[in-house]
Amino acid sequence: MSEIQRTILSAGIGAALALIAFGCGESSDTPAPPKTAEPAPPSAKPPATAPEAPSDPDTVVEADAELGKADYQIHCASCHGAAGDGDGPVAQALNPKPARHSDGAYMNPLTNDYLFKVIKFGGTSVGKSAMMAPLGGSLSDQQIRNVIAFIRSLADPPYQP
Ligand code: HEC
Repeated sequence: MSEIQRTILSAGIGAALALIAFGCGESSDTPAPPKTAEPAPPSAKPPATAPEAPSDPDTVVEADAELGKADYQIHCASCHGAAGDGDGPVAQALNPKPARHSDGAYMNPLTNDYLFKVIKFGGTSVGKSAMMAPLGGSLSDQQIRNVIAFIRSLADPPYQP
């Protein structure tokens, strides 16, 4: 008998504890939301905008031919060839043929502004073939400058700025 009583008693205590716990959970839940909502957004925003700032504006950073080389292999070499000899795998199918960027006699008189325009807006922007696609959608202005620096490094005879 005493065992049953104990069971009933402990069940009662359990229920009471559960009610207390529930009550406590409820009361501790209400003050919590304002606490967590306050500090999170202000501290998260400033660091996010800070690193973006330098890359955002049209800051002219010095062109980097090594970085340009990497983009050239991805975006240009299929037509112009890895070393700019106009012999990429796609070149055979093209008419007119892709320019030979290693041909200094042809390339050196072309200005940086002209090269920037043809790369960003495509051949038609300078009266050339549409086979020379506009790459402004894939490359940032800085990436285009880097690619131009790389093209200049291919020229034979060498490009004199
Ligand atoms: C789909 C093939 C293709 C790709 C990819 C391509 N080009 Fe061309 N490019 C051409 C062709 C074809 C011409 C020749 C256009 C003409 O003579 O009318 C050309 C011409 C050029 C010229 C010479 C323009 C002139 O006045 O003779 C430059 C500079 C050039 N491309 C740069 C690039 C760069 C840099 C990239 C990569 C960012 C690139 N091209 C990607 C096909 C391509």
